Amino acid sequence: MCGVIGYVGAGATPSFFLNALRRLEYRGYDSAGIAMLTQDGVVIQRAEGKLSQLERKLDKLPATAKVGIGHTRWATHGKPTENNAHPHRSGPIVLLHNGIIENYRQLKEMLVVKGYEFLSETDTEVAAHLLHHEYKNLTSGTPEQRMREALRVVVRQLKGAFAFGIICLETPEVLYSAKLGSPLVIGQADGESFLASGITALVEHTRQFLVVEDGEIVVLKAGQIEIESFDGKPVVRPFSRVEWSVAMMEKGGYRHFMLKEIHEHPLAIAQTLSGRVQRDSGSINLADLGVGSLPLKTLKRVQIVACGTSFYAASLSKYFIESVARIPVEVDLASEYRYRASTVDENTLVVAVSQSGETADTLQAIKSARAAGAQTLAVVNVPGSTIAHACHAESLTKAGPEIGVASTKAFAAQLTALYLVGLALAQERETLNQAELRFYVDEFVKIPSLVEKCLGLSESIERLANRYHQLSSLLFIGRGPQWPVALEGSLKLKELSYIHAEAYAAGELKHGPIALIDENMSVVCLAPRDAYYEKTLSNIEEIKARGGRILAVGQENDAQLQELADDFIGIPECSEAILPFITTVPLHLFAYWIAVRKGTDVDQPRNLAKSVTVE
Ligand code: F6R
Repeated sequence: MCGVIGYVGAGATPSFFLNALRRLEYRGYDSAGIAMLTQDGVVIQRAEGKLSQLERKLDKLPATAKVGIGHTRWATHGKPTENNAHPHRSGPIVLLHNGIIENYRQLKEMLVVKGYEFLSETDTEVAAHLLHHEYKNLTSGTPEQRMREALRVVVRQLKGAFAFGIICLETPEVLYSAKLGSPLVIGQADGESFLASGITALVEHTRQFLVVEDGEIVVLKAGQIEIESFDGKPVVRPFSRVEWSVAMMEKGGYRHFMLKEIHEHPLAIAQTLSGRVQRDSGSINLADLGVGSLPLKTLKRVQIVACGTSFYAASLSKYFIESVARIPVEVDLASEYRYRASTVDENTLVVAVSQSGETADTLQAIKSARAAGAQTLAVVNVPGSTIAHACHAESLTKAGPEIGVASTKAFAAQLTALYLVGLALAQERETLNQAELRFYVDEFVKIPSLVEKCLGLSESIERLANRYHQLSSLLFIGRGPQWPVALEGSLKLKELSYIHAEAYAAGELKHGPIALIDENMSVVCLAPRDAYYEKTLSNIEEIKARGGRILAVGQENDAQLQELADDFIGIPECSEAILPFITTVPLHLFAYWIAVRKGTDVDQPRNLAKSVTVE
């Protein structure tokens, strides 16, 4: 969703703003803008489309400015035109916004009556005029005091979600913001202060960050930061240091972030395991995993809430957690869960899984579970994110920054963390004995090198993509844990290449989807040698008998499967326990190479955003 950045300090150039916005491109956007304030006034440049369009206008901005704001907009109210791009100006106020102002219609009617002229179709312009209106109405105090008071008055009138970047021409060395529901971090360096929607925008300038919480107003000056609650009470919170480096956010020689991130599966898994499994004792380090404070022994059930790819990682983990910890696990789409009648109590652990840690549906789902008395755990990739703050405990997936909009390495890390939660439950509830625990720990440690081996399939999958990229529709099937893998494979394919794809539990084929099978239908069949192998082979036979084309994924030495399939992807031998980590890799590569062959925007597929902070 939209990206916000802001600067106040000795001086920043137009390129500073553009580069920071580039670091937020992954969030998804369709227009952009920058405002820079100097003693000669404010200059605003905006452009429809990609940042390269805005880049063409950089020479119209001042060479340097002590205060400035920038924005990438993902259109919600009004088309992605230059006119609707942020920032918006009202008198001395220049404002940009991430989020949605739900009551903008009522506010707009009131402001129109008062004579304000609207130049855009956005909900954001309402906030600019409203702030101007309240600021103008205050007659006593310095301009900064009036701005602060006006902001307090405005935030109380707004319904919805927001993270603002605001400058006022009458306070030329101050940057303001307020947050409710949309992500916002502030950073500090020597004589400089920053705000942004995510730490990736600022890592090359500072490593000192503070996550702004809902209900807070921030006032930034050069190297000086003040936070207060919406009702004006000062808030003091320490900054924390983030160890992400700039190199982690570059493409590192890969053609796309997505390809780099697929190649980072092994690292993401290894880092998520590191410090959490003790090989000698075959045990799980609960404190390092972040679950040490939870009452794991007395839990009666687990619920996991998530969206998209995170939901598939959660669905996969259900098989593992139930088998090792002997506890019922329900997995829910967060967008559904948040509106369902809750049945949780203090013996329920509700786990929110989210790469960004900001997904609006997941956040609301976990908040409602916590309010209903459940124990809550966040499995997130972004340290200190909103979902982490909303939970009793936080277990980090250590995939590092994920820039490609489609989630890949984060999925591998989520799976790792969730499997570890399963082992932690098994250890505490004594549902596995020492030897069994040690077996799993030993198997987990092998995953990174097996995945590494699987990445060697990239070239052959690229060749395969040449035969599949022209299809208009594809099915994916799998049984047991390979069903969520099939769902993940089909989601990746459709979101990247815009090819229609659907996934089914293989046993469901005969209950309907088999009607789709004829010589024009190709089916990706996940058929590794696991407990479901023979049954999946029967499904493959059924598809073949109806003329369907088979692309099978199975063990590299499986001659029988190879014989049955029209195309075959051979994965390395491994134990059944860790198979999903391995079978996912060729599906991520398959979706990637098909998208490349089709020439779609791999890192930023159309209509998608990395961080979905609206419902
Ligand atoms: C798919 C994808 C999305 C996200 C979903 C949840 O490739 O990236 O489906 O998985 O939007 O996002 P997070 O994990 O940030 O909550």
